[in-house]
Amino acid sequence: MLARRTALVLAPILLAPALLAQLGPPPEPVGNPITVSKAQLGKALFFEEQLSSTRTVACGTCHDPLAGGADSRWSAATSAVHPGPDAVFGTSDDAIGSPSQPRTLPNRRYRYHQSFGLAPQVTTRQTNAAFAAAYAPSLFWDGRAGDQLVDPLNGQVVLASGAALEVQSLEPLLSPTEMGHQARDWNDVVQSLQAAPPLALATNLGALGTWINGRDYPALFSEAFGTPEITPVRIAMALATYQRTLVPNQTPIEPLLAGLPHTLTAQELQGGTLFRSVQFTGCVECHTLPLYGDDLFHYTGVRPADEDPGRFAVTGNPADMGAMRTPSLRNVEYSAPYFKDGRFATLEEVVEFYDRGGDFDAPNKDPRIRPLNLTPTQKAALVAYLKRPLSDERVAAGVAPFDRPTLFGGSPRVPQHYGAGSDGSGGFVPRMIAVEPPHVGGGKLTLGIDGATPGTGALLLVGPAADLAGTPFQGANLHLALGPGIVRVNAPLIGQGLGGGWASVRIDPPALVGASLFAQWLVFDQVGPDRFAATDAVELVGF
Ligand code: HEC
Ligand code: HEC
Repeated sequence: MLARRTALVLAPILLAPALLAQLGPPPEPVGNPITVSKAQLGKALFFEEQLSSTRTVACGTCHDPLAGGADSRWSAATSAVHPGPDAVFGTSDDAIGSPSQPRTLPNRRYRYHQSFGLAPQVTTRQTNAAFAAAYAPSLFWDGRAGDQLVDPLNGQVVLASGAALEVQSLEPLLSPTEMGHQARDWNDVVQSLQAAPPLALATNLGALGTWINGRDYPALFSEAFGTPEITPVRIAMALATYQRTLVPNQTPIEPLLAGLPHTLTAQELQGGTLFRSVQFTGCVECHTLPLYGDDLFHYTGVRPADEDPGRFAVTGNPADMGAMRTPSLRNVEYSAPYFKDGRFATLEEVVEFYDRGGDFDAPNKDPRIRPLNLTPTQKAALVAYLKRPLSDERVAAGVAPFDRPTLFGGSPRVPQHYGAGSDGSGGFVPRMIAVEPPHVGGGKLTLGIDGATPGTGALLLVGPAADLAGTPFQGANLHLALGPGIVRVNAPLIGQGLGGGWASVRIDPPALVGASLFAQWLVFDQVGPDRFAATDAVELVGF
């Protein structure tokens, strides 16, 4: 940041105007220079699902290069919804967020969450596209990650300034709504790496796999930092270094900004003119070049100012009520849905939003958000400008540095559900929760049930037997549950009321790669067929 600011001050004298807008490499803080080894280690850690308490979520689960660093699991048809401040689904304050993991206890069993049950929780805000984060002096929508890194183990200042990425990266690792379990501490985070074979849950490691070359994490930390110690500060430094190598500056706009021959179409050029016009749109006043974001905070009328206090929560200044950090628009084509709550699915809708002057008013609303009265042709041009010209082709193509391994989450290795459950009291069909990796030698995994009616308890059937394959138990074939080789695990159902019961247990993964375990929950329930209700079933294939 410092380097860029200085350049801007000196620029009128030293540089030709066209060169002013070039996006250079991001600044690195004194004390954490970019090195190849540290960036490689950071990349491994960024995609390391074993860093989360349930081994199902990595940074790269929510921040996918293919989505410009935002969450690629979103689609207009399937969105993960957070119920918002009122905790009620289906109301106007709902936000589209990113699924993480079930609420997890220190013993790795699950705990009921009032909105999500035992299913993976959803973040309260939309995942930022993290690929321009390296330029920002403070991070998150509200800028709560400042730029001074303090060692969480001893309170000493490690990096005095310019370290927002390092500061930010420490938050998700302990957060019980993202990668941690309740009361997770740094010792646990470090432990999760000590014995874990790097990226053992992922496939298609590419050049990263060549670099890892069968080594363990202490060896990788040794190459990056000189000694094998794994510490939170080193984890933060490596993660930040990797993110500083993600410079989205091979876009069609670059030659234009440099005053060189370019490939923009007439429509895209028209859109660019509108974008930069203070009179017609004012976009460029906040989405300043060359980053297309000013990293400052503005209330723009996306939602009522006091619904999500945004920057106000950090500063306590009423002028900041509802203000969010201006996101960079580089690669914005890939990072739908838009705004801090994922309100709009398309850039067309975003442009309509600006054209009508925002959706809500407040005394601190930025005056540049006002009705623009653009024509349909102008709107189309603006949208065209936001797409191809601002998109780095390496992002869409998944080419280095924007490549990534195939993660366990979302792969066919995830436990596969089959069959349908049967309902019990009140018509509630209990739900099987199975998200953790059946990783041979990787330790126990948790299976949960929710949506059950508490009563005598739940029974988990687990077995290699084909008896459990095919059709899950439905009423009359209960006798199968008593077949040979099937293990029955009793778990008391906690919770109250019809459909309010839940439980979870830890089981061993399959003993061999390629071997299957089948599992299904039964709940003793007077009302269900043959006096039990059942969940759907899952097949866990060892890998
Ligand atoms: C469960 C999804 C999820 C996971 C896992 C996750 N993040 Fe995020 N990330 C988010 C969300 C949501 C935000 C925005 C939160 C906010 O502003 O309140 C965010 C914000 C960020 C930002 C700020 C970007 C900006 O422009 O302000 C960075 C950088 C980032 N995450 C990096 C990481 C790293 C590094 C990890 C792993 C240690 C990680 N994230 C894990 C969802 C996730
Ligand atoms: C007053 C400053 C300001 C102006 C002017 C402005 N923006 Fe924004 N823009 C923001 C802020 C702040 C956000 C994030 C708001 C939120 O999520 O609550 C944003 C978000 C966006 C997003 C969504 C990005 C994402 O990743 O979710 C797009 C696209 C966008 N603006 C385009 C434009 C266009 C096009 C114009 C001109 C018509 C414009 N902006 C004018 C400040 C501004």
